Amino acid sequence: MDIKSAEFIISNTDYLKCPDSKLPEYAFIGRSNVGKSSLINMLCNRKDLAMTSSRPGKTLLINHFLINKNWHLVDLPGYGYATAGKKMRDQLQDIIESYILNREQLTCLFLLIDCRHEPQKIDLEFMEWLGENGVPFSIVFTKLDKLTHAKGKSNVQAYKDKLSEQWEELPPIFLTSSEKRTGRDEILGYIEGINKT
Ligand code: GTP
Ligand code: MG
Repeated sequence: MDIKSAEFIISNTDYLKCPDSKLPEYAFIGRSNVGKSSLINMLCNRKDLAMTSSRPGKTLLINHFLINKNWHLVDLPGYGYATAGKKMRDQLQDIIESYILNREQLTCLFLLIDCRHEPQKIDLEFMEWLGENGVPFSIVFTKLDKLTHAKGKSNVQAYKDKLSEQWEELPPIFLTSSEKRTGRDEILGYIEGINKT
């Protein structure tokens, strides 16, 4: 899919105030600092469409972007932001959960995982919660450029092995680097395939 246009539409904390539209929506979620906003910029060929930061907790709102005038891409706040206070963490969790459970336009959630880390309890529990609630999701491994090819491959395989203990069937899995622009065609092709059906 070519990205012909990408425009920021609105930020908010309340799913009820998200754009009143029937367009299909694809959202990006994952731990704070995993690279959600960077991936969105890479997919859209834009440097600063979504704001990024080396410090966790940059994205604190639900951000809607309109792509090619026919689908929405959504940048969500990260979860498990360790240095935020409990109140803020709970607030962010509420924002994320109510959006995911109530937003009917949500077509697929991309769950981002940093390929450098072992499977983390918080991510595995989040996937379990998605499964229990019947939310369609895919897994996106991020920051592949930070590992050698062999190490990246073995980490991803270890992750798949761990998931296979819990899931009979694995969701679609994408390997990406926003730095090197890896995985862009695969993710956009996947979205295009769903939008066509
Ligand atoms: P929050 O909004 O705080 O939850 O973070 P986020 O998940 O949106 O992460 P963001 O895109 O802001 O990136 C966090 C940091 O990781 C930034 O310093 C990015 O430059 C860096 N980063 C993101 N993706 C990649 C990647 O593919 N490769 C490398 N080397 N760095 C990356
Ligand atoms: Mg962000």
